[in-house]
Amino acid sequence: MADISPEHAKQEIDSLRRQINHHNSLYHQFSAPEIPDVDYDRLFDRLVELETAFPQLLTPDSPTQRVGDKPLAGFTQVKHDVPMMSLAKVFNDSDLADFETRILKRLEIEDEDAEPPVYSCEPKIDGVAVSLLYEQGLLVRAATRGDGVTGEDITHNVRTIGSIPLRLGTGDSPERLEVPDRLEVRGEIYMTRSGFAAMNEEAERSEDGRTFVNPRNAASGALRQLDPRIAAKRPLRFFTYSALVKGTEGFSELNPSVPFTHSGILELLGQWGLPLNPERAVVSGYQACLAYANQLLAKRDQLDYEIDGAVIKVDNIRLQNELGSNARTPRWAMAYKFPAEEASTTVNDVEFQVGRTGTITPVARLEPVFVGGVTVSNATLHNMDEIERLGLRIGDRVILRRAGDVIPKIVSVVKGTSLKGTEGFTELNPSVPFTEITMLSTCPACDSPVEKDGDVLYRCTGGLICPAQRKESLRHFCSRAALDIEGLGEKLVEQLVDADMVKTVADVFTLNKEDLLSLERMGEKSADNLLAAIDKSRSTTLPRLLYGLGIREVGEATALSLATHFGSLEKLMQADQEALEQVADVGPIMAEHIAHFFANEENDKVIAQLRERGVTWPEHQAQSVSDELAGQTWVLTGTLETMTRDEARAALQALGAKVSGSVSKKTSCVVAGPGAGSKLDKANELGVKVIDEQGLIDLLS
Ligand code: IVH
Repeated sequence: MADISPEHAKQEIDSLRRQINHHNSLYHQFSAPEIPDVDYDRLFDRLVELETAFPQLLTPDSPTQRVGDKPLAGFTQVKHDVPMMSLAKVFNDSDLADFETRILKRLEIEDEDAEPPVYSCEPKIDGVAVSLLYEQGLLVRAATRGDGVTGEDITHNVRTIGSIPLRLGTGDSPERLEVPDRLEVRGEIYMTRSGFAAMNEEAERSEDGRTFVNPRNAASGALRQLDPRIAAKRPLRFFTYSALVKGTEGFSELNPSVPFTHSGILELLGQWGLPLNPERAVVSGYQACLAYANQLLAKRDQLDYEIDGAVIKVDNIRLQNELGSNARTPRWAMAYKFPAEEASTTVNDVEFQVGRTGTITPVARLEPVFVGGVTVSNATLHNMDEIERLGLRIGDRVILRRAGDVIPKIVSVVKGTSLKGTEGFTELNPSVPFTEITMLSTCPACDSPVEKDGDVLYRCTGGLICPAQRKESLRHFCSRAALDIEGLGEKLVEQLVDADMVKTVADVFTLNKEDLLSLERMGEKSADNLLAAIDKSRSTTLPRLLYGLGIREVGEATALSLATHFGSLEKLMQADQEALEQVADVGPIMAEHIAHFFANEENDKVIAQLRERGVTWPEHQAQSVSDELAGQTWVLTGTLETMTRDEARAALQALGAKVSGSVSKKTSCVVAGPGAGSKLDKANELGVKVIDEQGLIDLLS
């Protein structure tokens, strides 16, 4: 570094910082990076190099100064200049209408023809509220909301968040307003959902396997660390939602040309480099607010951050001031809450369900609770490891999560209530004592011994004598992707097995009208319809039959691969382990399951009976695997209507394509159905070819 003078170093440092801040803002504010990461890293490394050689040129707002290298000894308290208030909540349309009525009344607007108030509508971000203090444009302090009056200083962690500017800029445009000397910005720090998912995947693989409950807790936990290097590694971001200017009445005196509205102030903050939520909108009247909230709710699952409602604020600041506040909430704003995706409830019992192949799955029976828009009373616990990981006992209070259409999941046990023991618990539900959950030694359905299978699974050894396994096998055999017997649903399966009319799947084809009429609630017409559906299912296909037999690990795609490879059931039945492993996607374990299935005499008998009872499946046209799509990578996203994902995948693979789960520059084509979200966006962003389901069908035919 001897070859560069301090003057030149300063020039280069200034230029590097400008460039880095510019790219930071493109990346964080607009999600539109202009340069690849390696180029950014090169600029950054050069800046570090110069600042190391010329330490006198180091300043606290340098982009290299985000992460301090020493943990704090403790947190200091921060008293907020103006308390950080919370929002009153409404849960339905008429409450929001009342909110407007109250506003009009307070403002003494009685004229029915008067224009309705203008509102600023924003997503209610489910993160952590923070206050950022900027002096002379420099970030000098960041604090949590705390109890609203006093919070904690978390500057060291907040400085690590790339989307929070260390210095506010006026940009290059001369008409932009100077940043005030002292400006307090408020907003929400949140963790992206995608970042959260990736972080949890990693946590699951870690030694203790402990995962984070949800993005908000993970964000809040990161901000409460004394060591900023932890926060620096977490995918934290920021959205601005308000600001205060000390010493003036706000922004009005700064410049008369700035509209004295909440939305106008937000725009100004955006120009100074603060990230604004792109979903914000300005609307007039509460009905438009409702429409906004409904549109936002429809989008909820596609956003990469969690929201728990919409915030509706009177836009005009003078009106806000006139309306004033109650003790803890302003009268000019309201949170319109969406159905919660998390709720707490009690585990009343844990039962064990026996699956088609005998696997025993613990299922929690819950005190019914409304979550994610539906009432939930059961949640699968997957396996005994999950129970151990959660530290769950019967009687515990738990947090249940149901986001989007995902199946409900117990994410954590509420400590405290369970530790308090019976006392806390009796109040919740006196009939349930705390009980440890242990695996059964015999099957709940047939009393056969339960065996451990592998590291975490347990299995009933009863096979076909087990009514639970029989029911599950029959349900699977009749399902749409298998023999597709319309009308033979869950209830009927129960009845048929309980009445001992169907022992194996082949017995479906011995049912007659008399049998059916003897069942409860079965009328003539339903019996005729069912018999017709059974008859129709007699002519099936080899892939459907193979899938329907319920061989362990053999899903639709594998059934199709097996049929394609062997062409007939006879050839498949004769194949040994080695021959089976020749099939695309069939590994040693699956090959063993398949060979094992056909080596079982009981299974052979069922197949023979199916034939005797008129079930037919023609030889499968061994489609010669073409190489039309060889070397290509395809991605399927959204819903497919005429085929299942597995079928589409198998068909593409048959043409030589690789089917991947994520879109990148190397993706050849994306098949997007209704409901496609981030993968479709990414494809469009990268200019990857996108076709719809019809396009795929055309290609396949
Ligand atoms: S405005 C006086 N806007 O919701 C009004 N709050 O109970 C101050 N929140 O803890 C809040 N998104 O952290 C506002 N767009 C938004 C928000 C928002 C999330 C949080 C805020 C506060 C809570 C209100």
